[in-house]
Amino acid sequence: MRDTRVVVLISGNGSNLQALIDAVADGMLPVSIRAVISNRADAYGLGRAADAGIPTHVLDHREFENSCEFCLALKECVNRYTPGLVVLAGFMRILDSKFVTHFAKRLINVHPSLLPKYPGLHTHRRVLEHGDPIHGASVHFVTEDLDAGPVIIQGRVDVGPSDTPDSLQQKVHKLEHAILPTAVRWIAQERLSVVGVRVLLDGQVSPEQGLVAESISTQYSAPVVE
Ligand code: GAR
Repeated sequence: MRDTRVVVLISGNGSNLQALIDAVADGMLPVSIRAVISNRADAYGLGRAADAGIPTHVLDHREFENSCEFCLALKECVNRYTPGLVVLAGFMRILDSKFVTHFAKRLINVHPSLLPKYPGLHTHRRVLEHGDPIHGASVHFVTEDLDAGPVIIQGRVDVGPSDTPDSLQQKVHKLEHAILPTAVRWIAQERLSVVGVRVLLDGQVSPEQGLVAESISTQYSAPVVE
């Protein structure tokens, strides 16, 4: 089986990109990261990619007339690498429907909450404001609705009385670094299928999915990593 060609989109630190780079280097991930593209020239993750010998590109969204033009240029840049999978790893721009449709079923995103709870920004602060006892991270297929595509995998953490947005961010980052490479591996191994809003692993709902479904009343079925 040939390695799946992956393009990763970032906007900043790139610790999730690093988790993917490390998993590939450790032989845990049968993929090859062909390019890293950032919408910010100062993204720290660009250095991580360069250190790993991965080609990088910067497409600054502010240099385009509008979001459509930006997404079109981004699509062309990604397509040059003929990827089997495009990973949004802390990519902080909303992609238009043409982009999402073009890469449908091969576009995934890591999000810092237990979706469908807290789509959008400031998830850690919102969890604390709502007094939630549990928080987490999700990897999902991207659809046209923001942070609403079928969930592939989630990880959970307890929220303690002394937690702050920063401490939650650290805990959630740790989870993301485990669940994102897992999701990418499952896709590379062709073990996932999407049926409606459900993601099946090896054709089945994961036995652990009930835990997620109970704790956050989600309609999605997603395996859990704790
Ligand atoms: C991650 O926590 C990721 O979930 C979040 O940005 C962070 C990027 O960290 N993504 C979003 O909020 C997208 N809506 P990283 O640059 O260190 O990987």
